[in-house]
Amino acid sequence: MASTPDPRLKEIMAALTRHLHEFAREVDLTPEEWLEGIKFLTAVGQKCTAYRQEFILLSDTLGLSSLVNALHDRRATEAGTKSSLVGPFYRQDSPVMKLGDTIVTKPTNGQEICIYGRVTDSADRGVANASVQIWQPDETGNYDLQKHDPSEMDLRGTFFTDSQGFFYLRTIAPLGYMIPMDGPVGDMIRAQKRHGYRPAHIHFIIAAAGYREVVTALYLRGDEHIESDTVFGVTASLVTDIRSKDPDSPIPNLPSIRFDFQLAAAQAVGSGRVGADPSQITKRAAG
Ligand SMILES: [Fe+2]
Repeated sequence: MASTPDPRLKEIMAALTRHLHEFAREVDLTPEEWLEGIKFLTAVGQKCTAYRQEFILLSDTLGLSSLVNALHDRRATEAGTKSSLVGPFYRQDSPVMKLGDTIVTKPTNGQEICIYGRVTDSADRGVANASVQIWQPDETGNYDLQKHDPSEMDLRGTFFTDSQGFFYLRTIAPLGYMIPMDGPVGDMIRAQKRHGYRPAHIHFIIAAAGYREVVTALYLRGDEHIESDTVFGVTASLVTDIRSKDPDSPIPNLPSIRFDFQLAAAQAVGSGRVGADPSQITKRAAG
């Protein structure tokens, strides 16, 4: 490590190597077992495509993504909405929509709901023109990437807050789902006798100039897996309710979720995303 010019790379590689060696010592790792490990990691890489990111799934199911998110939140100098997982189904460049539009583009049997709220700064002032990216599974627990032609976007959109920081949109209530189990991560989950489910949730990325980007998700109270999320994404402050009658809702005849997102001031640190559009990762990996 001594010759590594980049000090951060040196620090990360030295600690990684130290802990990796300590792990091998602790379990008295055999050659056969390490070969199994190499086969597993190879299979994880081979499962990745422009529409599938098995390494993010591995990071999520080992709790590493949630830990990295928690560390990211701890570095903030102001209070803000807690982070949650990007997960493997994020796509960049979702269609830009007008406030009040629906992100549902395909026939659905889902229960239509309104999601609305404000984007504020840490002093509760509305943040105008903040981008609100939303993506979610449908009423059967599937994302667009798992259905039809995966290049067609559905249940995704990008909205911008009004001059007071308000946003509202129409969508359907999502169902919780089992993480993709047809790859090596699924083999791992089965070998551990874990249930593999995530509670119902809706993903968001909120961003505005001068503020830290918030990567998060809202979870629906009452879901049977709210206490045992396979990827450890649930935080109490992100658990919400669908209210059947909310006179404050901009679409009062629909059941609604209200949630206000709080943005902390930006610092000279990177994004809170543990993940990316899968096509961007395979593109970078191919060089
Ligand atoms: Fe998700």
